[in-house]
Amino acid sequence: MRGLPVWMDRILLVDDDTLILQALSRILKTEGYEVVAHSDPERAATEVGFQVVITDFMMPKMNGIELLGALRQSNPHAVRILLTAAADFKVASDAVNRGEIYRLLGKPWTLSELTTCVRQALQHYHLLEENTRLQRELAEKNAELVGINKNLEALVVERTNGLLDGLVSALDYRDTETQWHSRRVSLYSRKLAEAAGVRGYELDVVEQGALLHDVGKIGVRDSILLKPGPLTPEEWVEMKLHPELGFRMLAKMPYLKEASTIVLQHQERFDGKGYPGGVLSEQIVLGARVFHIADTLDAITSDRPYRKGRPLEVARAEIARCAGSQFDPALAATFEAIPDDAWLEIRRFVEGLEADDLRKWAGKTLRAGEPAPAAN
Ligand SMILES: [Fe+2]
Repeated sequence: MRGLPVWMDRILLVDDDTLILQALSRILKTEGYEVVAHSDPERAATEVGFQVVITDFMMPKMNGIELLGALRQSNPHAVRILLTAAADFKVASDAVNRGEIYRLLGKPWTLSELTTCVRQALQHYHLLEENTRLQRELAEKNAELVGINKNLEALVVERTNGLLDGLVSALDYRDTETQWHSRRVSLYSRKLAEAAGVRGYELDVVEQGALLHDVGKIGVRDSILLKPGPLTPEEWVEMKLHPELGFRMLAKMPYLKEASTIVLQHQERFDGKGYPGGVLSEQIVLGARVFHIADTLDAITSDRPYRKGRPLEVARAEIARCAGSQFDPALAATFEAIPDDAWLEIRRFVEGLEADDLRKWAGKTLRAGEPAPAAN
């Protein structure tokens, strides 16, 4: 019965002196190697699939260094050994120094010199092969890990998006008066922030913060949140807790940590007369200062149960009037420079959304660097 084939190291021998070629060949076969022998270097140059090549230096048509140069192209991993007489040693050692040859074997060689040299050459070859294999495996594992990481990130984003949408919807269910308000304000805020020079992920943060600004109202009692008439001073105290309630809800979620500061500061005023912190001017995060203008724009231009929405110029006049007191004057100027069409497009876009679109849109708000859905 035949056993499994045993893989042998293959050695290419090249020497125009056939007596030397036969002697080398015999010795190496005795050592257990497979040998391919050529007396013509041009024919040897076409060989492939060997681990070590041993060639004479002085040969007609092509010298040993030229042959090794040619074989280096077709068999880059094979280990190259040059047989050389003392007279050619200088030329050959230059080739070693240039990295073209693994080792020189001087003529005449002894049996042990030859066998040791070949054994070391093969060890060198197998070490390099092993190294290459390990590097390839490492690269594959790395690529696999990158893939797994991406999937995990996508999963976290997807789940957080679901949560985000759930939070906004939960507030919508309780306080139907603000339905669509959060959605419009988030896109108005993104627009204004972009015009103010905010880019990439920071834009997403502004959009998220604006979308969730009133989420803390989930924690305000119905008798206050839905009260038709004006609130008493005591009721106002409770109502004014909503920025902090929202902040505490969101700050525990890593994806929404930055947005949570906008939620905390969304009722702050530029002149420090807002709440809960009475924070002044640039100490209010840019996203909250942007939101404040976007919120006023939406409050004035939207229908309320007790009045119809008013035209954009009313909102423009109010924002200009309160620049420097309620609003950041630089952002108020940025707002002023944005044409009506940009705001009207966003309003029409949000009003045209269905529930399914909203889910997809909430999914977009967490993806870093993506633009807001195009208004149409
Ligand atoms: Fe609020």
